Amino acid sequence: MNNKILVTGGLGYIGSHTTVELINQGFQVIIVDNLSNSEISVLDNIKKITGVRPKFYEFNLTDSSKTEECFKENNFDAVIHFAAFKSVSESVKFPLKYHENNIKSLENILESMRIYEIKYIIFSSSCTVYGQPDKLPVNENAPFKKAESPYAETKQISEKIIQNFIGDNNRFSAISLRYFNPVGAHSSSLIGELPKGVPENLVPFITQTAAGKRDRLVVYGDDYNTHDGTAVRDYIHIEDLSNAHIAALDRLLNFNNEIPYEYYNIGTGIGYSVMDLIKSFEKVNNLKLKYNISVRREGDIEKIYADIKLSKKN
Ligand code: WQD
Repeated sequence: MNNKILVTGGLGYIGSHTTVELINQGFQVIIVDNLSNSEISVLDNIKKITGVRPKFYEFNLTDSSKTEECFKENNFDAVIHFAAFKSVSESVKFPLKYHENNIKSLENILESMRIYEIKYIIFSSSCTVYGQPDKLPVNENAPFKKAESPYAETKQISEKIIQNFIGDNNRFSAISLRYFNPVGAHSSSLIGELPKGVPENLVPFITQTAAGKRDRLVVYGDDYNTHDGTAVRDYIHIEDLSNAHIAALDRLLNFNNEIPYEYYNIGTGIGYSVMDLIKSFEKVNNLKLKYNISVRREGDIEKIYADIKLSKKN
């Protein structure tokens, strides 16, 4: 029997790519998504790529009774929990929206895991848990510094909730994957990063500007202490990121994890600035992007890239 995996947020950017990879690897995927930042058409495109249309539930995981009902109906082997709001800048404007959605949904999932004795969870964490680290590249043992945005704070709190939930018993195991900045699209071009409305993230904004859908890009800050003054991030291809979930899942299902709760950086180990990205995009596509420099964006950190020794080793 194929392992049955609940993928929350499975129609979103990272969720859809991971769903495709899971199906290709022979897992049975059940998706829960409330379509708050995704389109139902993604389900058809998953079918076009894999030949399989996953069972789909449309509801909000902050609804505890619907969450429990879904667990009751399906005997999951593991959960991969993507569903969350993810914009640093939006979280500064609407902090309560972020706390309510990101924390409540995790609590409901863990509660259902407890009731139905589902042992394994992979959690979408973020490099933002580190705040602005003292040392770069940042490794997994770096302490959580002050969260620079409510979004980052929800990820710090979520990791602590998982730690408390797992405790030191052997009934549950978890892996948090601390994503750096996912970019790119599936090689079929049938799925990619398709945020609703105006994109908050850099790369979809660049591609939509190049396509003429946005007038011009705004670069938030050129007075950071970096090689060209713009902020530095570690950009990882979405297919590498989705493969990290398969590796984490295999690790849990085959009891290869060393401790009940593990966490890993998922990045490339290389930092690029906003201007590096713009120049590289212009060069590869042989075009010019229209952009303005503006003030720093609230909630942003200056510079971060991953130490990837641990994720490479395991
Ligand atoms: C990157 C840089 C912006 C838009 C993301 C995810 C978050 C998390 C970490 C997980 C920043 C600048 C952006 C624009 C710009 N991880 N920028 N103009 O904030 O690092 O957060 O990665 O998955 O969930 O959202 O990514 O793409 O928003 O910004 O100059 O129009 O680009 O200020 O320096 P961020 P981002």
